[in-house]
Amino acid sequence: MVEQAIYQHAKQWAFEAGEILRQAVKGELTVEYKTSAADLVTEKDKEIEQFFLDKINTHYPEHFLLGEEGVQQQQTYQPEDEIVWLVDPIDGTTNFVHTKSNFSISVAVYIKGKPTVGVIYDPIKDEMFHVLAGQGLYVDEEKVPAVATNKQMEEALFCLNHLWLAPNDDLNEQPLQQMVREIRGFRCIGSAALELAYVATGRMDGAIYNGLGAWDFGAAYVMLKEQGIACTTLKGEEVYPFGHATLITASKKLHQQVLANYIELKH
Ligand code: IPD
Ligand code: CA
Ligand code: CA
Ligand code: CA
Repeated sequence: MVEQAIYQHAKQWAFEAGEILRQAVKGELTVEYKTSAADLVTEKDKEIEQFFLDKINTHYPEHFLLGEEGVQQQQTYQPEDEIVWLVDPIDGTTNFVHTKSNFSISVAVYIKGKPTVGVIYDPIKDEMFHVLAGQGLYVDEEKVPAVATNKQMEEALFCLNHLWLAPNDDLNEQPLQQMVREIRGFRCIGSAALELAYVATGRMDGAIYNGLGAWDFGAAYVMLKEQGIACTTLKGEEVYPFGHATLITASKKLHQQVLANYIELKH
């Protein structure tokens, strides 16, 4: 089955890329600014994306790669008609540069638009989250059970960008400040892919994002779907997996409660 082969390759290449990053954090990194001092890229981000492009070109020359650093030449194609790899070579580059932990490699494969394979690898913890749609979500060799669906707000731990708790252009901050007071806690780990993998495994109860790229959430989206965890845009609409998206994810009841009571978009 072609899906199985792709799944095995995605895991193997994520592990190999992780080994490169495990070594890299022991040495000096070349850091550049992309759009600002808060938007970093290192030579390793580009190297890992190129590593995936080379592997895909060798093994699956007819597949496409959509990666954050854009190493593939732009070609016009309809992602819904093709096999597309969504790769974030380092998710959490700021952590990679500063704390040298809590970053990940995120790899997803969508076959004719269908979320099929998701792999998120934390090389420092040597922990791999992986799924082949319909076959269950795993952490390393362990199958992940279904997550609790009956959590109350006061028991919930959510990921959120702290900037939204101050006045901002996107969301009214007061309802979110109220949510902070009512739930058990907020966390910002700094790698959206890892945060979403934690939601899929029940370590976290939900996450809210204002703008993620397809490479950030592509793998986690396969995992969340597998686990039956709700995942929509902040307007409550279905997520388009090949572009930028706002995102809210949590088990169905919490997802509904948060959307209805705490999310007030300004536009
Ligand atoms: C970023 C991380 C971060 C999230 C940002 C992403 P990058 O990805 O996932 O947690 O808040 O929106 O851009 O740039 O480190 O790959
Ligand atoms: Ca980046
Ligand atoms: Ca990212
Ligand atoms: Ca990245």
